[in-house]
Amino acid sequence: MKLIRTVEAMQAEADGARRAGRRLALVPTMGALHEAHLALVREARHHADHLTVSIFVNPTQFAPGEDFDRYPRTLEADLEKLEALGGVEVVFAPDERAMYPGGQAAHRTWVVVQGLDEHLCGRFRPGHFRGVATVVAKLFLACKPHVAVFGLKDAQQFLILRRMVHDLNFDVEMVGVPTVREPDGLALSSRNVYLTPEERAQAVVLSRAVEEARRLAGAGEQRVTLLVEAMRRALAEAPLARVQYAEVVDAETLQPVDLLQPGREALAAVAVFFGNTRLIDNAFIRVPPG
Ligand code: PAJ
Repeated sequence: MKLIRTVEAMQAEADGARRAGRRLALVPTMGALHEAHLALVREARHHADHLTVSIFVNPTQFAPGEDFDRYPRTLEADLEKLEALGGVEVVFAPDERAMYPGGQAAHRTWVVVQGLDEHLCGRFRPGHFRGVATVVAKLFLACKPHVAVFGLKDAQQFLILRRMVHDLNFDVEMVGVPTVREPDGLALSSRNVYLTPEERAQAVVLSRAVEEARRLAGAGEQRVTLLVEAMRRALAEAPLARVQYAEVVDAETLQPVDLLQPGREALAAVAVFFGNTRLIDNAFIRVPPG
């Protein structure tokens, strides 16, 4: 496993691997790796024979006051986990100067995927998806993958990045991996470490809420107001939870819908604060056709 720190060295590595006829995969992460990240890496192995995991806590996707400074940084432990898992050719772990020479303030070129960032998390985290799309574009140009693997836990992120790839003609196949969960349903997240034991116990309401929406839609309920009410009821079971949003949107346009169309996919999504810790969860839902 090679540790690469600069964009130039990463591009040279990718060029070499491409010349040798290998198929390159990239799994972008911000580190603090947990089982879900490892599931992405395992999935990537099925799509490629040269695998890069990037580890970069991207400052441009954090708003002032968000957790950029306290975001867990555990490079040594991350490298050990990837080494133990095996099959990873390269860890690309640039520092901030390598990705944003001259600092964030000097950066001038941004990728904005219009419209898809208006709802769900985009409404409450202005600039977040601009930072995500920009850094993933930069990671694609540094790592030159044929295929990139992302988690559907961050469904809005995945849909925005897939649209970026389409609109900008990135020659990258996008693979989405279903959300990896704890036994009680809580989606794995690097931010779960911030939860107190009491908050952790109550955090199970997020998955229950989106599962409830999925169940109702599966039983034929098309009225979104009822789905949202059901999600809010499930979230209200946690006294420590402060709900930021509970929404159902079209799974492609990410625009709110009033009525689910049979056969067309929607996304039920929630964001909840426990103290300062913000957790999200979502489920793709669909009313059976006919
Ligand atoms: P990060 O939060 O580290 O997540 C890296 C990848 O792991 C993302 O594709 C995310 O969706 C996936 N992931 C995290 N928890 C998951 C879970 N419980 N189940 C399935 N997949 C999960 O997402 C980012 O980093 C950044 O925004 C990034 C894309 C790297 C750009 O900076």
